[in-house]
Amino acid sequence: MRVDQRTAPVRNHERSTAATAGRAAAVAHPNIALIKYWGKRDEHLVLPRTDSLSMTLDLFPTTTRVVLDPAAEQDTVTLNGLPLTGEAQRRVAAFLDLVRRRAGSSRRAVVHTENTVPTGAGLASSASGFAALAVAAAAAYGLGLDATALSRLARRGSGSAARSLFGGFVQWHAGPSSAPPTEADLASYAEPVPVAAFEPALVIAVVNAGPKAVSSRAAMRRTVDTSPLYQPWARSSERDLAEMRAALRRGDLDAAGEIAERNALGMHATMLAARPAVRYLAPATLTVLDAVIGLRQEGVPAYATMDAGPNVKVLCHRTDAGRVADAVRGAAPDAAVHTAGPGTGARLLDEARR
Ligand code: ADP
Ligand code: DP6
Ligand code: CO
Repeated sequence: MRVDQRTAPVRNHERSTAATAGRAAAVAHPNIALIKYWGKRDEHLVLPRTDSLSMTLDLFPTTTRVVLDPAAEQDTVTLNGLPLTGEAQRRVAAFLDLVRRRAGSSRRAVVHTENTVPTGAGLASSASGFAALAVAAAAAYGLGLDATALSRLARRGSGSAARSLFGGFVQWHAGPSSAPPTEADLASYAEPVPVAAFEPALVIAVVNAGPKAVSSRAAMRRTVDTSPLYQPWARSSERDLAEMRAALRRGDLDAAGEIAERNALGMHATMLAARPAVRYLAPATLTVLDAVIGLRQEGVPAYATMDAGPNVKVLCHRTDAGRVADAVRGAAPDAAVHTAGPGTGARLLDEARR
């Protein structure tokens, strides 16, 4: 029984590293990038080509429970009560394999995850999903990781998840592009960025809550591989990021909004120029964009950003959020409209709440 000999000391190790190992639950919120992550330089390690910067939301928590099952031969995963299958199941199992390798464990897990954000709609379910899974799985397998190490780990599930480990405004470092893999892995994590005391809001117009036809992962791969606009955007994104940090440091919502809007439109231009083109923007997206321009003409600072989906997030002052939401509803009467503020980072749930 080679397997038993190999796993016996491992089980002892698991017992000794964390008294509560074996089961854990965690919560994480989605984040919306103001400077986008679009393009990997290493698919396996999920290393991005550029730095990105986001706001973690105070809406749409994902709650994930992980229970190790010594008798199980496979991981089982449910999302909102339904078994995960296909690529989505493989992604979670591959992530758990990584956690198991680090823990020296061969035990399979039962995972139950609940999204309150629509899944695969360009509202960052992969960010809240893999941030919550990283925190819960690391605890269940007894890895004693700090927030930075958890951010690196979450990155391996979905790049944007690295940022949901932290609350407020967060930068994910690409790390040095020429470093060897181990060093590059260590250098690519997220951390909070300094922000002036100001009260921003993101008004979120859900014009279509359905899942996207092309995943973020596949779309960014195709863009990097085929879009002649990719390199110019990636280069300009570097400057956008530096200017965004400065704008946030002085609490300059107009500057931050302008930079975010041009960075997002530029990202969508890269996809439109991919072969074949990837187009997430729908007619209702453009109607909302017109409403945002209309708000600015009326003197209301409001700036739009869109991810890999048709839904629009409008950055504005908290005090203007009601007026912005009304304008968005007027432009897209069928949209569900939500107002988010800066939310908290991912956290473990205590025993009593599991
Ligand atoms: P989104 O815009 O929602 O982030 P993506 O294409 O990036 O869309 O990722 C969607 C995929 O993320 C899902 O198909 C699934 O594989 C994964 N995912 C979403 N939520 C969870 C979750 N709670 N737990 C595990 N995986 C999740
Ligand atoms: C447009 O993090 O979902 O939302 O790393 O392949 O899982 P994978 O991709 P993902 O990509 C997010 C793309 C984006 C921009 C952003 O969130 O920065
Ligand atoms: Co995603």
